[in-house]
Amino acid sequence: MNSENARSVTLDQENTVEELTNPFRALDEEGAGTNPCAIVIFGASGDLTHRKLIPAIFALKQERLLGNNHPVIGYARRDKSDDQFRSEMSETLSEFGRFNQSDAEVRERFASELRYVRGAYDKIEDFRKLKKLLDDIALRYQTGGNVLFYLSTPPGAFGPILENLKKSGLADESGSCWRRVIVEKPIGRDRNSARELNKKIHDTFTERRVFRIDHYLGKETVQNILAFRFGNGIFEPLWSNHYIDHVQITVAESIGLGGRAGYFDTAGITRDMLQSHILQLLTLIAMEPPAAFRGEAIRDEKVKVLRSIQPYSRSDAIRNTVRAQYRAGIVDGQEVAAYVNEEGVSDNSKTETFVSLKLEIDNWRWSGVPFYIRTGKRLSRRVSQVDIVYKKPPLALFEQFGSAAPEQNVIGFRIQPDEGISLSFVSKRPGQAMKLDPVRMDFQYRTSFGGTAPEAYERLILDAINGEASLFARQDEVDLSWKLIDPLIESWSGENAAPLYYYSAGTWGPEESQALLARSGRKWRRI
Ligand code: BG6
Repeated sequence: MNSENARSVTLDQENTVEELTNPFRALDEEGAGTNPCAIVIFGASGDLTHRKLIPAIFALKQERLLGNNHPVIGYARRDKSDDQFRSEMSETLSEFGRFNQSDAEVRERFASELRYVRGAYDKIEDFRKLKKLLDDIALRYQTGGNVLFYLSTPPGAFGPILENLKKSGLADESGSCWRRVIVEKPIGRDRNSARELNKKIHDTFTERRVFRIDHYLGKETVQNILAFRFGNGIFEPLWSNHYIDHVQITVAESIGLGGRAGYFDTAGITRDMLQSHILQLLTLIAMEPPAAFRGEAIRDEKVKVLRSIQPYSRSDAIRNTVRAQYRAGIVDGQEVAAYVNEEGVSDNSKTETFVSLKLEIDNWRWSGVPFYIRTGKRLSRRVSQVDIVYKKPPLALFEQFGSAAPEQNVIGFRIQPDEGISLSFVSKRPGQAMKLDPVRMDFQYRTSFGGTAPEAYERLILDAINGEASLFARQDEVDLSWKLIDPLIESWSGENAAPLYYYSAGTWGPEESQALLARSGRKWRRI
């Protein structure tokens, strides 16, 4: 098809009215065009609210993507006045987020509009109090009664909050107003508990009104995987088992637990990172082109990828996964303690802080192409990267001139830091000999676009307000991801359980992770 024939894909008839709101357009006046609504954050004393949510909302206001008719209410158990909450949030803003250098006066003006409700998550009277406040706010800020609830509490509180939102009538949509909910991870700790939670969510909100957040999907570089694949003509024809040898996904962190031992020690890296962020990355890399760039069309394709991965039997899970835990070591020049010596971790904890595995997608595009994944805490450095490793050329034409064996071309998505995309290939070294050396073509966000990209939470909060769900996980996606994860975790206990390996903090994980690839003559790429 030549460019004159390229059709623009518009929305299909079945898109819901909410999906027709286009969140990608620029707004010309303060917050105009973004649905007015109140934003209620449950868990307002928590770390996520301080580090991410309030800075993201502030940034949206600074960018004029949210305006005066987007009041914010924090709800939490701690006793605190509006003023205390405001001054805490004002301090938070000077520390975190893109606009932390903004004028103190501007930050204080934003904070002065915040409200705080002290309430329990399981007391209906407290929700009635919140309802009364929201009724007043609807009139004062002309929100039309729209409310976005953000569940940013420990998961144990999700159930009571949802129940009380229902009982108090806070979840009811009357007239033309809407009520939506953003749910933070973890969505369950296995398939059954995720199903139970989804049932509770659906008792109060229909799926259309539920936004399960995975902040990786809000990252510019992650969204750019789709732009790269489906906005260009040259890559997609090369995106299959005809040309690709294998795919490597690395999500490495140098940090340890960051004070979250209570959660992490019962979860482990597999639940924390693999079930959510990494499977999301994998589906974006592997999905078929969607019928339109819209919520349901994109999510349908992602679900098809998950359906094409066969859950492992116990023996296959043991064979294809490596789990490990860090011992003491040196990270960024600093000595760090072993995982079991971290505060809040039990001495004999067997929780995995590293996992690597091989997955296969049994469909026409990917059959025979292994996807190797590794993720861990206290690794050598913080880097998230996806490498598409191509097959070698069929003939080693240049070996006769003393060149090394043919290289594999690689398309590398650098998700973070140093965001960009690179293509490695070989090139003739200048001189009389026909000698080839590997070189790299590189695109860097920083140099091509300048400025700072929006934070993931900015994009996701804005999308939820506009009813655009493409970048949120649907119920079936979550369900299928647990279907794949459960057998891995189960293979780590009971008789003949897969061993727990160890690695020194500051390395790239245990040797066994290299061995996983070495079995087929492959190796992890040096990062
Ligand atoms: C969170 C995990 O979802 O993602 C954390 O719970 C992890 O353990 C974090 O550190 C990583 O996010 P990012 O954006 O820093 O890569």
